[in-house]
Amino acid sequence: MGRQPVDFSAWLTERVEHVENVLEQLLPSDTTLPSHLHEAMRYAVLGGGKRVRAALVYAAGEASLQSGTAASAQQIALDHAAAAVELIHAYSLIHDDLPCMDDDSLRRGRPTVHVKFDEATAMLAGDALQPLAFELLGLMPIAPALTVQATQLLARSAGSLGMVGGQAIDCDSVGHALTIEQLQQMHSMKTGALLEASVLLGGIVAGAGSATRKGLESYAAAVGLAFQVVDDILDVTSDTATLGKTAGKDAAENKPTYVSIMGLDGSRDLLASLRDQAHAALLPLGPTAARLAGIADYIVGRDR
Ligand code: IPE
Ligand code: IPE
Ligand code: MG
Ligand code: MG
Ligand code: MG
Repeated sequence: MGRQPVDFSAWLTERVEHVENVLEQLLPSDTTLPSHLHEAMRYAVLGGGKRVRAALVYAAGEASLQSGTAASAQQIALDHAAAAVELIHAYSLIHDDLPCMDDDSLRRGRPTVHVKFDEATAMLAGDALQPLAFELLGLMPIAPALTVQATQLLARSAGSLGMVGGQAIDCDSVGHALTIEQLQQMHSMKTGALLEASVLLGGIVAGAGSATRKGLESYAAAVGLAFQVVDDILDVTSDTATLGKTAGKDAAENKPTYVSIMGLDGSRDLLASLRDQAHAALLPLGPTAARLAGIADYIVGRDR
């Protein structure tokens, strides 16, 4: 924070490397007992992933700081919040890939956790990543009232009213024709909720006032939904090598997606309008929101 790398992609690369180091430090080592479980947790979390959620935490922190520079306690808190959302995300991917859910064997260009290890270990690694995320929030060196807000937000966004609820709707919708409204509800919950929480966590840690939080909320709702619309598009338009996960899986499994309901052109039109909504929401925040604007463009333009 406070530093201004020349362009967005340099900033993103630096933040991705940074959070990779933070996660490496904060996860139990694979020699700590039970070592097989810790090995699986580290395998799931480290060495891959775009780290979009972590980047959102840092960018929202930057947009919300009163003085423009994070104090060292705030930097540690942002690291913990960024790591926490990546841990919840990694757990959601382990469980999403299980045979009882999407039954996927490839993730981030490598065998999925239940394939590399076994199903029981995959279940438990996911189970253990969740409380670790909340422990990291509890260790944030900021005002306790802010830690309580952050904890409540992450818990709600990850639970049955957020990500897990969205996954339940996803499981129940296989082979069903959803309306656009139902699809939006499912996507906003299963993917949007954690992305929104990432943005708001950055704001909470950096002490965002209510006007800034309002802008962040509106930005986050747009990019949160946009992220899964792109995921649905890439499942159709990209290939397994680029994605690092099996392409064409949604159609093969008869999943309702934006592409299956609105077609590719309709999905791309929606994306353009979500990107405009995200940018419009950032206008009142001024130039410190530049990184968030960059992430909106990155999410919409990404190819993996
Ligand atoms: C994939 O998320 C699952 C969704 C919620 C769409 P990401 O595309 O962020 O996965 P990684 O972390 O980069 O592997
Ligand atoms: C996954 O959605 C959402 C969560 C893990 C919460 P998908 O099932 O579309 O994600 P991918 O395509 O397997 O990454
Ligand atoms: Mg899924
Ligand atoms: Mg899946
Ligand atoms: Mg998908």
